[in-house]
Amino acid sequence: MTTTLPARPAPTGLLSARSAAVIAATAAVVAEHAEQVTARFYPRMLAEHPELLRVFNLANQATGEQNRALAASVVAYAVQLIDPDAPSFDHVMTRIAGKHVSLGIRPEQYTIVGHHLLAAVAEVLGDAVTPAVADAWAEVYWLFATQLIAEEARLYARAGVDPSTPTRPYRVVRRIEETDDVVSLVLEPADDASVPEIEPGQYVSLFVDLPGGDRQPRQYTVSSTAVGTRLQVTVRKVRGTGGNPDGRVSSFLHDQVGVGDLVDVSAPAGDLVVPSSDSPLLLATAGAGITTVLPIVEHIARTQPQRPVIVAHADRTAADHALRETVLHAGRQIDDFTRYTWYESVDRDDHRARTGLMDLTDVPLPDGVHVFTCGPLPFMRQVRGALLARGVPADHIRYEVFGPDLWAAPAAAGG
Ligand SMILES: Cc1cc2nc3c(=O)[nH]c(=O)nc-3n(C[C@H](O)[C@H](O)[C@H](O)COP(=O)(O)OP(=O)(O)OC[C@H]3O[C@@H](n4cnc5c(N)ncnc54)[C@H](O)[C@@H]3O)c2cc1C
Ligand code: HEM
Repeated sequence: MTTTLPARPAPTGLLSARSAAVIAATAAVVAEHAEQVTARFYPRMLAEHPELLRVFNLANQATGEQNRALAASVVAYAVQLIDPDAPSFDHVMTRIAGKHVSLGIRPEQYTIVGHHLLAAVAEVLGDAVTPAVADAWAEVYWLFATQLIAEEARLYARAGVDPSTPTRPYRVVRRIEETDDVVSLVLEPADDASVPEIEPGQYVSLFVDLPGGDRQPRQYTVSSTAVGTRLQVTVRKVRGTGGNPDGRVSSFLHDQVGVGDLVDVSAPAGDLVVPSSDSPLLLATAGAGITTVLPIVEHIARTQPQRPVIVAHADRTAADHALRETVLHAGRQIDDFTRYTWYESVDRDDHRARTGLMDLTDVPLPDGVHVFTCGPLPFMRQVRGALLARGVPADHIRYEVFGPDLWAAPAAAGG
């Protein structure tokens, strides 16, 4: 059932009163059709602008994930413009802007996206899109776009990056085979400039030229900055299940990229950064999420060794647990470092690991603990639920999604 939102003036004063009323009356119906809209939007835009196939993740197109992320964000943005009680949208804005900056998105491309998005709305909703409705949604789009463009301009300037050349060449100087499925690539700039400043937990986009001619970017967390002249990424090879293909970029990095090869790397992005207090930290990760743990543990060991850190990690087996020894080694330099491990199946030698999925109910939590969680969405939801039930405030729990951020999509799309 669709509901009509109460018409209230935009709290920020950003949206005109006339558009606010139209958005209030149509937000629910647009939300209901938002996936159809974006499902039409991408093919029509990519057909007219094939150069964009080199920045969009083609697997996200195939699986529909990006459709849901874009749809959810536009409707959520519109709703928070007209709802004075809506939660702050800042973190969504920052996340999208970071992703765009890592991909070199430029202001003029917003005209292309806006044109095709609004045309797709008209195609899907037909006669319901009166000129007033079209104007109101165009206003929302351009408000969102101009805020993103401004934030992205700020991020480009801060990083000293020209968005028309968003990457720099890096040379692979070492490959570390972490597990059967996980490899770390140690990268050094192949131009004259130095490695930029990287906050623990930030990621870079790697652009690779795939066999067959496609060029594709993917994001990888900078898994170590221990050596200031290098950066390291740690890549899990994505195996296709249920007849789906293996991951294209992760397989390419595993199977085709060796020492001496060049890879194009963006400036670091992402706001998963450690709060600069001395509050205790809990890092709760699963699988490839471990890549966020090492840089944070290294950073705390280097700058605040007295700060308590708890590392909780879940994996299939000990043999799949990448970076285990490196994290432990860095953790030894922290005064109060505790670790918990869960494996779905535990070897006889792993007497310190627990069997099964992560269960935080009996893990001692220090007062004022701040939490970072990274892993598959169901895992993070479970971690968050367990911690909220134990009284950890929601604003102490931060997360990173290794894909389009669908964390809030069902709620947002429901309007
Ligand atoms: C901020 C961020 C940080 C990240 N950090 C890391 C990290 O540190 N380490 C790491 O390993 N990964 C990380 N990732 C994930 C990484 O960016 C890639 O998503 C991952 O490597 C998979 O990319 P791929 O090209 O190998 O797979 P893709 O080719 O993108 O495939 C992804 C999935 O889609 C499925 N698929 C593809 N085509 C189809 C189709 N036609 N029909 C149905 N299914 C299909 C594939 O089977 C696969 O399961 C991060 C992601 C983000 C957003
Ligand atoms: C107001 C306009 C826009 C909105 C609301 C928007 C929204 C989003 C969202 C929500 C994501 C997913 C972020 C995440 O990882 O969680 C995303 C990613 C992305 N956006 Fe945008 N975007 C806009 C404009 C643009 C423009 C102009 C371009 C360039 C043509 C662009 C290209 C991309 C690409 C390439 C990604 C990465 C996702 C993928 O590869 O599948 N976006 N955007």
